[in-house]
Amino acid sequence: MERILSGMRPTGRLHIGHLSVLENWRRLQDQYKCFFFAADWHALTTSFDETGGIRKNTFEMVADWLAVGLDPEKSVIFRQSDVNEHAELHLMLSMIIPLSWLERVPTYKDQVQQFKDQGKDIMTYGFLGYPLLQAADILMYRANAVPVGEDQLPHLELCREVARRFNFMYSQVFPEPKALLAKISLLPGVDNRKMSKSYSNDIGIFSDPKDLTKAVNSMITDPARIRKNDPGHPEVCVVHKYHTIYSLDRVTGLEEECRRGEIGCVACKKLLNSTLDGILSPLREKRNEIVSREGYVQEVLSDGAQRARMVASETMRMVRESIKL
Ligand code: TRP
Ligand code: SF4
Repeated sequence: MERILSGMRPTGRLHIGHLSVLENWRRLQDQYKCFFFAADWHALTTSFDETGGIRKNTFEMVADWLAVGLDPEKSVIFRQSDVNEHAELHLMLSMIIPLSWLERVPTYKDQVQQFKDQGKDIMTYGFLGYPLLQAADILMYRANAVPVGEDQLPHLELCREVARRFNFMYSQVFPEPKALLAKISLLPGVDNRKMSKSYSNDIGIFSDPKDLTKAVNSMITDPARIRKNDPGHPEVCVVHKYHTIYSLDRVTGLEEECRRGEIGCVACKKLLNSTLDGILSPLREKRNEIVSREGYVQEVLSDGAQRARMVASETMRMVRESIKL
């Protein structure tokens, strides 16, 4: 079976934008040997001065994953910092990667600037090495493919280049992983900007029904509509974007009613609220059940770390042999 690996930084509770990513992961579990991990060292590259939340966020995120249907019987679910081999491989690769390869990763300068605007300097050795650590994560499991969003493509390309260089310089150890680009529906935040916790415009997957209603009610609709029988323009409306994804069977009808001024925004939002609640409430229940099992998430992570280490130690044996250390 081909192997895939993917990970997320534990940055806080997941929002509804992550749901399609996770659903993709869940489907992949039946076709591939999957490794899914919490990238807590990657979180450290930007949160080195506020580490207090990382451990808790890791547990919360893994509970979220399990609630959405990642299955520890099928997949290896683990935490990066539990598998020291990632650090060793990162170090080995750091010897052969030219500095210029890291400096030209397009996300690097952008991110540094973004943090600078917020008054934070992240120009550390560790942050420059972020994509190399990511390459080590992937190559460690000799993954054939990596499900990623488009934003991660430069990182994956760097990983392939590093693998090629290693194989050429020493001996063939690593397959070159390919990107698995799923069609992920890009949901805007309630204010129609990119959904992000830092904009407070996100909708939690597991938020309680009251918060869900609040979020739906705060969604931006067609500003040209003042009275409820004014003709509307669904293409500018956030509610409509969500209907296109979650209310497939009725979206055409709703769109026409909106254009003809036959449905008011309040009613339209009510429909969306109940559709979303129908999708999210089983997930919420499943999550409650998971966290009520004392020690369960820890158990999943311990077991996952053990299974990850089996592959990782084999890879590192090959790497040391190849380098002749
Ligand atoms: N950089 C990824 C993100 O921000 C997280 C990540 C770390 C990752 N290591 C990885 C993703 C390896 C895929 C494979 O989402
Ligand atoms: Fe948006 Fe629905 Fe209002 Fe039309 S009726 S503007 S789609 S909320």
